[in-house]
Amino acid sequence: MEFNRKHLLGLEGFSKEEITLILDTAESFKEVLSRPIPKVPTLRGKTVVNLFFEPSTRTRISFELAEKRLSADSVNFTASSSSVLKGETLRDTIRNIEAMSIDLVVIRHRAAGAPKFLTQCVDSAVINAGDGQHEHPTQGLLDLLTLRDKFKSLEGLKVAIVGDIAHSRVARSNIYGLQAMGAQVALCGPPTFIPVEAEQWETPVFYHVDDAIAWADVLNVLRIQLERQHRGLFPSNREYHRLFGITRQRLERAKKDVTILHPGPINRGIEIESELADSEFSLILNQVTNGVAVRMAVLYLLSGGQTESELSE
Ligand code: CP
Repeated sequence: MEFNRKHLLGLEGFSKEEITLILDTAESFKEVLSRPIPKVPTLRGKTVVNLFFEPSTRTRISFELAEKRLSADSVNFTASSSSVLKGETLRDTIRNIEAMSIDLVVIRHRAAGAPKFLTQCVDSAVINAGDGQHEHPTQGLLDLLTLRDKFKSLEGLKVAIVGDIAHSRVARSNIYGLQAMGAQVALCGPPTFIPVEAEQWETPVFYHVDDAIAWADVLNVLRIQLERQHRGLFPSNREYHRLFGITRQRLERAKKDVTILHPGPINRGIEIESELADSEFSLILNQVTNGVAVRMAVLYLLSGGQTESELSE
């Protein structure tokens, strides 16, 4: 199939075929990344701007690496050292940058909808690297790739997303992506962390983490957003860990193997026991590794690359 999207704003509305094309393309790039010189000329002559208005380690560095591995020219914009501090608007910022001739924009922003807004300001392709509480589509895709690597098919796989679903862009991209691929998704957390939209996702909701563990093949454990603690959404970190923290003892009590994902950064000892994050149950670093190939695939397909098979010609 051909990839006919100009932008990647979210996984909502993506078909199984579109997601499979991205994952298959990422598999081809994994082979490139395993070579002694992990670089191809695919995006030579293309210019990518990475606009980060919020902190990031994994997403920013993996986009930069993906761009370098594809031989694109890339420029990094950090809001804290830009004219945004002098009051320049997002529209003016991107229009001035595009006036210097660019092809793609990667944006992370605290405001949901900022990537969509950019598509109305410029002609470049826009990739959402996380917008507010909306979506984080490349995180969703790298999670899917990591699970497909392990389970071969996502059809029928039971994935429980545990934590602050209401405020999580990672959760939304996972829900849309997993459901498109035929997986079963459940949510788990205290009632204050379950959004009203959960009804329309038609996902089971567990308010006891042991029930989620008993149900799931995979736990995708979300970061507790400590910056929201002041809103009183949960009593304390210690209480959250006691009630919802993923621990080896809980997994052993369930007497089953459960695969653990976490998008990072981890609050060790809060949403997950520190030792468990590095254990045989965890695919957390596989997720990070897959992030580079997934972002190469997205950059390639949005730059006009059409098919995964074209890469091996
Ligand atoms: N998973 C994720 O988005 O991590 P960063 O905030 O470090 O990019």
